[in-house]
Parts: sequence; C-alpha cells; structure tokens
Amino acid sequence: MAETYIPQQFKGRSLLNWIDYTPDEIKQFLDLAIALKEEKKRGEVHQRFIGKTIALIFEKRSTRTRCSFETAFGEEGGHPVFLSTADIQLGGKESVEDTARVLGRMFSAIQFRGFSQKHVETLAKYSGVPVYNGLTDEFHPTQALADIMTLQENFGHLKGLNLVFCGDGRNNVARSLMLISAKMGINFTIISPKELFPDEQIQKICKPFAEQSGSKITISDKISLVKGADAIYTDVWVSMGEEKLKETRCKLLSPYQVNEAMIKSTENEKCIFLHCLPAVKGEEVTEAVIEGPQSRVWDEAENRKFTIKAIMMATI
Ligand code: CP
Ligand code: NVA
Repeated sequence: MAETYIPQQFKGRSLLNWIDYTPDEIKQFLDLAIALKEEKKRGEVHQRFIGKTIALIFEKRSTRTRCSFETAFGEEGGHPVFLSTADIQLGGKESVEDTARVLGRMFSAIQFRGFSQKHVETLAKYSGVPVYNGLTDEFHPTQALADIMTLQENFGHLKGLNLVFCGDGRNNVARSLMLISAKMGINFTIISPKELFPDEQIQKICKPFAEQSGSKITISDKISLVKGADAIYTDVWVSMGEEKLKETRCKLLSPYQVNEAMIKSTENEKCIFLHCLPAVKGEEVTEAVIEGPQSRVWDEAENRKFTIKAIMMATI
C-alpha cells in the first residue's frame, strides 16, 4: 500500500482561523484528511505521533472536538493531556502569555477551546509550538474543514456548490463557513434575521477571497433563498456562553427552523443537511430532518477526527 503523503511545508504552523491559508493549502489538508480516513477504513495502524504530546485546553464543553483530538493523537502513539479550567489558571492567576511559554516547553502542540480569540492568538504567539483553535466565540476552523470534507465526499467537488447556512448568522460556525467557502469557491448564503447578520468585518475579510475564487457570498433574511441549495446547514440558536439570550433568540429564529418544508423548497432532490452538532432538535432543526435521508451529520462528525488528525500531522 502506498504510504500516505504528508506535506512538509506546514511544520510549526498554527491554525487560528483560515485567513492565513491559501486555497491550495486548504486543499492539501483536505486531501490528507481523506487519505487518513481511507487508511483507517483499510484497517491500517500507524504510530506517527510517538514521543509527541499535546495540551488540550477546554474552557467550554465538547464531545466531538475533544474526542477527535484525543483519539486521533492517541491512536498514533501520542500523549494528549486534557486541561479544563478546573485544572489550570489560564488568564486568571497566571497570564495567557506565561501559560503559553510553559506549555510550549513541555508539549509538541496546544489545542484551545474557549471564549476569546485573543487567547488562542496569544498562545500561538508565545508558546513557540503549533496552536489549534478548537472553537472560540469568533471562529471554529477545524469544524469548517470537516464540513467541506463532507461536501467533497458527497458531491466530488467544492467549486460552485451552493451552501446555505440558516440560523444564527453571526456565530463562530457561520463565520468560519463563510471564510472557508470564500477561499474554496463555494457559493455561501447566510439566511438569518437582520439582527443576527454577520458583522461587517468578517464580510470585508471574505470579500477579496471570494472575488479570487469566484464564490458568491449572500446575506439575507429571506428564507426563499434556500431554493437551489446543495446543502443546508444550521447550528444551535444559542451558542455556549450566550445562555441568557435563549428566549430572545428562540423568538427571533423560530421562522428559520430547518424542517422538511424548507428542505423541499430547495427544489433540489440531492440537497443534503449538515449540522456541526450538538443539535437541539425541535429548535434549529426538526427530528425528521436530522434523521431523514438528506442528513449527513454523522459523517460530518466522523470527519472531525480525520481533519483534526490531518491538521496535527501536517503541522507537528
Ligand atoms: N461540533 C463540535 O465542535 O462539537 P463539540 O462541541 O462536541 O466539540
Ligand atoms: N455555535 C456553537 C457551536 C458548537 C460546536 C457554540 O459555539 O456553542
């Protein structure tokens, strides 16, 4: 069996969002993730992280991201160390800069899931090792790679696909999808109430990337724009840390629920449904859709592991 090709030019790089990566580089991560998934299907066992360690800092809860990092790293012989806010002093008694410098002396890489994008950037600046953003209030880049991997698996290509995100258009997942779609030539539409449109800054960042790739970015409150979608994507209405906003959000977003009628109104029989999970069934999506024939959410969750493994393997 041919050995999986691991690109060497990414060694030492962090993944904080996709802004600093070219479409060709993103494609290389994607190809590696697909190859790693195929290896696994063939039953191959590899030990490419022997002697390596990764610190997994979690300020917010996680199932998929934590388990992807732990299993992907551990099964290749590496040693992951889980650090919750109950374990370390990050940003409290000890500054983020100091924590970064200490962890950088002990670990081969660091994953951070938390609130502040600034924190993950500071970890990257001061640790001297690759740092991965496992979700902040602003971005969820590892999720976006798994999402486009799922699109690639379903459609065999990315360019020109119509991806529609319906829901809280200003959240971390929507912003990361906008960025990766703009880079990869995927037409990306956000459908959400005006109050939840993504901020101007992320739109400005995406604009030149979209112009270059030929991606069309649309932001609207009109649900009729689902027509022609190849994939409908949604996420929770209330992200971690925003629990107090639940009532307002549910009121604002109830017309934007992804249900069978919405899927039908795409007028595309091949339209698939995506969700980063966890899902609140009955809010942003109905049980019928998530369990229905269009749903690819379990493949998408599985792809988290292989995209995360690819990111670690290319950068450590
Ligand atoms: N999609 C995702 O990031 O899931 P977790 O919150 O379970 O990690
Ligand atoms: N937007 C959600 C994503 C969870 C994976 C959150 O931040 O809670």
